Order: sequence, then structure tokens, then C-alpha cells
Amino acid sequence: PRDKGWVLKHLFNYQGFWHTTRQVQGVLACQKLFEAQDTDLFLVTTPKSGTTWLKAMAFTIVNRDRYPCIHHHPLLSSNPHDLVPFLELKLYVDNNVPDFTNLVSPRLFSTHMPYISLPDSIKKLECKIVYLCRNPRDTLISLWHFSNKLRPKSIGNISLEEAFERFCKGLSLYGPFWDHVLEYWKQSLEKPERVLFLKYEEIKAEPKVHLNRLAEFLGYPFSLEEEKLGVVDEILNLCSFDSLSNLEVNRMGKLSTGEDNKAFFRKGEVGDSGNYLTPMMIQHLDVITENKFIGSGLEF
Ligand code: A3P
Repeated sequence: PRDKGWVLKHLFNYQGFWHTTRQVQGVLACQKLFEAQDTDLFLVTTPKSGTTWLKAMAFTIVNRDRYPCIHHHPLLSSNPHDLVPFLELKLYVDNNVPDFTNLVSPRLFSTHMPYISLPDSIKKLECKIVYLCRNPRDTLISLWHFSNKLRPKSIGNISLEEAFERFCKGLSLYGPFWDHVLEYWKQSLEKPERVLFLKYEEIKAEPKVHLNRLAEFLGYPFSLEEEKLGVVDEILNLCSFDSLSNLEVNRMGKLSTGEDNKAFFRKGEVGDSGNYLTPMMIQHLDVITENKFIGSGLEF
């Protein structure tokens, strides 16, 4: 059966993580059909951790020779999700076998798949992976807003209390959140040249530092000349929340998968969860986070 990703009524556990029917179908199809190339680059995120932002930045970095003029940049007329498609949510849905012959190298893909579920060829070829996550409080609040925005009016909103309870139990899209993050964290420690681990809050705090890290990791470092010409600032401005969220395409347009582009832009701030979660909820989440991450060296 085809349910919508945001209904969240029937989640299925596959390889230890929760998915909608449609997502499981996409993951299975990818595992069976996707053949990676060693130059492929993968952007992996937990839902609502800044995927749209990361896609915009990585696409712009990797393609800056093809699109040197910022005034005619594809980001001005396309949502980042249409420029860097999700493997399991766009490319392989309905057992579709996508035609990649026209994609230029390096191919840029994104996914929310947990590490355990990534297609074998990605792991065997040791393709580069950029992993982005966000603190669990803001992730939860962003996810809650997003789910309610996309839920059909007929089934009504999910309450914050219910969303909170489900998230804490791990019953969120691609959850448990903490297990997803930990898998990639461990990979990034074992193979830092292969997995770059980023946090939304850190990019917000020092965007220039992290844009440089991202460019270097992807194999497209900025030259001194580019630094002098202000290319880094230009990319940061183009990809900023204010810039992207005010574009006509993101205010009025729809993704090729049907969602309103504006659903991917809400506040774009760190700490908005403090406006919604009670002190008890925050404490509860923090205790789960501490227990899950104990001994890993990872904290938010
Ligand atoms: P909020 O709901 O907290 O505002 P994703 O892209 O993974 O779906 O995550 C969406 C979250 O990232 C939303 O968070 C959204 O507002 C924020 N976001 C989208 N574009 C952004 C950008 N260019 N810079 C910073 N945050 C952005």
C-alpha cells in the first residue's frame, strides 16, 4: 500500500530503523539496484537537520566552474531537493531504474538512509559521505512542524506531546534518531577521509570555516584567488536561509515529488525548541541523549 510519508501511522522497522512503506520500498530498491561510482558524493542527513541547506552548499561548491555567475545560478530557479535528489525518496521509488547517463561527474546524491542500509557498492567503493545532523531538540520541533504542514487536513495535526513521545521512543522517520547519528559518527572516527561529520549548529556558528571544510572534503577547495574575490561569502549568501526562503521558486513552487517548496523553510534558527518544549521535556530528551552517546565522544 502507498501511504504518505507524513501520515506516520504505519511505520515499519527495517534493519533497526523506522520507515514508511514508501521509504522501505525505496531503500530496498536502492539496495538492489543502485551501483555507485567511486567519484560519487553522498549527502546523508537525519530528516530536518538542514538537508536543504547542505544540498545547496554542496551543489554550489562542486558545480562552481559550470555555474560561475551567481546571477544565473540554478539555485535561483530550482529548489535544492530538485538539484540533488534523494536516492530512496525520488530516484528509486516504485522500483524505478533511473537513467544516470546524463549526470556529470561527480554525481551528487542525497539520502536519509542509516549507514547499515546504504547500498553495498557505496561502502565497497569507499565513496565520500558528508553527514549532517542537528541537536535532537530542534530536530524534533522541526520535524513536528514539518509533519503537520504536510499532513492532509482530514487527519488533523499531531500534538507536540504525541510527537515528543514517539521521537523519544525512536519512532520517528529514519529513527531512532540517536542510533542514526551514532552509526555515522563511528564511521567518521574510523575513516575521517571518507566520512565528514557536520552539525547544523556548528555551521550556523562558523559558516565560513565549515564551508571551507566541506569544499576541501569534497575535493573542491577554494583557491586563494577565490578567497580574495569573495567567492566563499557569495556562496554562503546564496545558500543562506534568507536568500533561499525568499526566492519565488521556494515561496510558490512545488517539488517534482509534489511537496510545497516552502515546507522546507521555517525559521532556520538554533534553539527554537526552547519556545515549545517544557523544561521536563528538555530534561527527558537530554537524559536519553546522554545515555545513548555515553562513551562515544559525541555530544550536542
Ligand atoms: P526549522 O524547522 O527549525 O526552521 P531539512 O532541510 O533537513 O528538511 O531541514 C529543514 C530545517 O532546516 C528547517 O528548520 C529549515 O528552516 C532549515 N533550513 C532550510 N534551509 C536552510 C538554510 N539555507 N539555512 C539554515 N537553515 C535552513
